Amino acid sequence: MRRPELDRTFALWFSSHRYSRRLHKTVRRLVPDSDVRFLLSESGSGKGAAFVTAVAYRLSEQHRLIDATLAEFKLTHEQLLQVKKRMRIEIEAGLRKKSHDHAKVKMLPTFVRSTPDGTENGDFLALDLGGTNFRVLLVKIRSGKRRMVEMHNKIYAIPIEVMQGTGEELFDHIVSCISDFLDYMGIKGARLPLGFTFSFPCKQTSLDAGILLNWTKGFKATDCEGEDVVNLLREGIKRREEFDLDIVAVVNDTVGTMMTCAYEDPNCEIGLIVGTGSNACYMEEMRNIEMVEGDQGRMCVNMEWGAFGDNGCLDDIRTIYDKAVDDFSLNSGKQRYEKMISGMYLGEIVRNILIDFTKRGFLFRGQISEALKTRSIFETKFLSQIER
Ligand code: BGC
Repeated sequence: MRRPELDRTFALWFSSHRYSRRLHKTVRRLVPDSDVRFLLSESGSGKGAAFVTAVAYRLSEQHRLIDATLAEFKLTHEQLLQVKKRMRIEIEAGLRKKSHDHAKVKMLPTFVRSTPDGTENGDFLALDLGGTNFRVLLVKIRSGKRRMVEMHNKIYAIPIEVMQGTGEELFDHIVSCISDFLDYMGIKGARLPLGFTFSFPCKQTSLDAGILLNWTKGFKATDCEGEDVVNLLREGIKRREEFDLDIVAVVNDTVGTMMTCAYEDPNCEIGLIVGTGSNACYMEEMRNIEMVEGDQGRMCVNMEWGAFGDNGCLDDIRTIYDKAVDDFSLNSGKQRYEKMISGMYLGEIVRNILIDFTKRGFLFRGQISEALKTRSIFETKFLSQIER
């Protein structure tokens, strides 16, 4: 077997030619399988110092360029304060009636008016659509002295062709998963109340109605935007003619998250998701939510902060990589903040950096492989694994 580590080119300096030939012969005899070449060095030892310096120079210039590029991802304290200031402006615009329609951070009323107080009781079904998987849950909540929450759940994949097919196909798929779950739990005839976690921007007019404003995160099923997703679900259940459910609430995942934690700690009044997408909700004073009648009490607001920056207000901190990822996404120009920070996009940002660094000769000897050219091939989980 060839020993590739012996394929070497030797740099030689000789004071005599006779000696050179002899060495040549000896080495070839010692390693006959190896590809050995000799290069004669002309005043090598002196020139070499210049080369060492030149290489060091080239590498330090490369490091400087790499550092300068990556530095754009680290915001200074001043920049962070700027982002905070801009976020506040967008929040105000979303809450005010006069600016709401044009606001990018939508500040959507959720009609959730209070967090749990421990007296909740009963068996409930829940659906969770909008992350990497679709989940169906049975949650048994018991109040009183022996407060407890018992959960059973099953995870179902949503194939990409269903995510991006027709609305009817998507909801038929959801209903067939529910049907499977009801069989699995043996509760098909029970007609339990159901809460639908639907993690996309919805304009709500009550707890059990939510018009999908636009898909995000890789979903693009047709005929759903502008529709009430509770209706779409009810119609799906009707089409199947197999079971009935009482759909009581449609909630954003931020709201669901806040409510779960508020059950443990009543001080919890903010829900924050940095998952496939990113978003937050919080309990707001009714008098500040101009889109809903009434000044009394409080309501949870689904901020939909993923769309922060969609009016260009973050353009100075978006890198060329953020822009490239946005340009090639399903919803280009939308959810710009989300695309800068959340799980669905971080891997793509890294892949774009790798491509650029390769083009600039910093990586992989300047050769961009077919694999590296493949969109979404570098998953965010790899990034987490490297970080860990
Ligand atoms: C959606 C939000 C959701 C967030 C986190 C975003 O893309 O618009 O409604 O809360 O992702 O899942």
